Amino acid sequence: MTAYLITSVSVVGAAPTDLLIRDGVVAEVGTGLSAPDATVIDGTGLVALPGLVDLHTHLREPGREDAETVESGSRAAAMGGYTAVCAMANTSPVADTAGVVEQVWRLGREASLVDVQPIGAVTIGLAGERLAELGAMADSAARVRIFSDDGHCVADPLLMRRALEYVKAFDGIIAQHAEEPRLTEGAQMHEGEVSTRLGLIGWPAVAEEAIIARDVLLAEHVGSRLHVCHVSTAGSVEVLRQAKARGVRVTAEVTPHHLLLTDERAESYDPVFKVNPPLRTATDVAALRSALADGVIDVIATDHAPHAVEDKECEWAYARPGMLGLETALSIALDVLGPEWDLIAERMSRTPARIAGLTGHGVDPAPGAPANLTLIDPAARRTIEPAELASRSRNTPYARMTLPGRIVATFLRGEPTVLDGKAVK
Ligand code: DOR
Ligand code: ZN
Repeated sequence: MTAYLITSVSVVGAAPTDLLIRDGVVAEVGTGLSAPDATVIDGTGLVALPGLVDLHTHLREPGREDAETVESGSRAAAMGGYTAVCAMANTSPVADTAGVVEQVWRLGREASLVDVQPIGAVTIGLAGERLAELGAMADSAARVRIFSDDGHCVADPLLMRRALEYVKAFDGIIAQHAEEPRLTEGAQMHEGEVSTRLGLIGWPAVAEEAIIARDVLLAEHVGSRLHVCHVSTAGSVEVLRQAKARGVRVTAEVTPHHLLLTDERAESYDPVFKVNPPLRTATDVAALRSALADGVIDVIATDHAPHAVEDKECEWAYARPGMLGLETALSIALDVLGPEWDLIAERMSRTPARIAGLTGHGVDPAPGAPANLTLIDPAARRTIEPAELASRSRNTPYARMTLPGRIVATFLRGEPTVLDGKAVK
């Protein structure tokens, strides 16, 4: 195994130091290190972060390998600075059995570009009617701890209660896609001034807020862990703020796109901006940013949602919701938060690793720590060219935008998955 000596690198924003990576771990940290057998990487001007961890990735395998595979999504993740991703269950077949979650887990191991932690479905076929075999998925080789019907809401309150009760036995989490379906029938975008002007059916903020309010009460009643996927409204932030103040075991994520883009993008009728939950208003964006800074929102999660060309390059009404995220998330975080490295490490690595229980991830580079880390050049700017992305899909909302920051290298247990800004395999 090759050793790597990274010289003069800032670890999570601190003064420059050297990092020696050997045998899968950070062997030494300090100035003036030497290791004649090591490959030297000049880290001048670079920042080392613990490898990023994504709680919300759609890898599309099995079923839509034309849009993404475990391998291509893993490569996109590594290129984005990630060392672990949680793979959502809305595949085909749905990841609602031990067999499917083990298949995804095994494919992740074979690709070995990031650690792929499968998420299991809450209900059979995501149909919202009967609980899936949560215990069997938890006991499987994939050791599933997070369950989600993402893409669909677990709308039935009794089923939601039963799911929360069930996973309590092994300290599992129900990750809810908060959308009251009766309030969003036919919805095409955020309900507001822009939807009125465009004549498109709106997805009101209250459809999200009502489910979060219900679910924090259920989680409190049962004493279980709830995670709220892709929080998108200022009202949701207030519900979460109150629940956390009461000590409810709830965590929440926000996506890069909800931190940057607004519903005005729908004016272009370009379906690349169609996503669920929809892009909201500038007021919502401001509330999400401040909730991320003060901790009411715990993590940035990408909701990386690759879609084939025919599912995106069509009329708005027929397009599937979702956008790519893995390869641009860190740049968006840098753009939105500035060079707040400790906050970025907290929201994109340490906390998501803790929520998902991924030991060895979310640990700052220090002697003895597993060498799961990423190197960023914060001074670089890059223009996003969809054709250059590692993902199999092209539906990035940032096409031809120039964004700050570039991933120079990513290491998974001491092995580079990205070097010189390029995928190693
Ligand atoms: O925009 C979205 N796309 N939101 C979801 O909840 C699901 C996802 C997908 O699977 O494409
Ligand atoms: Zn999703």
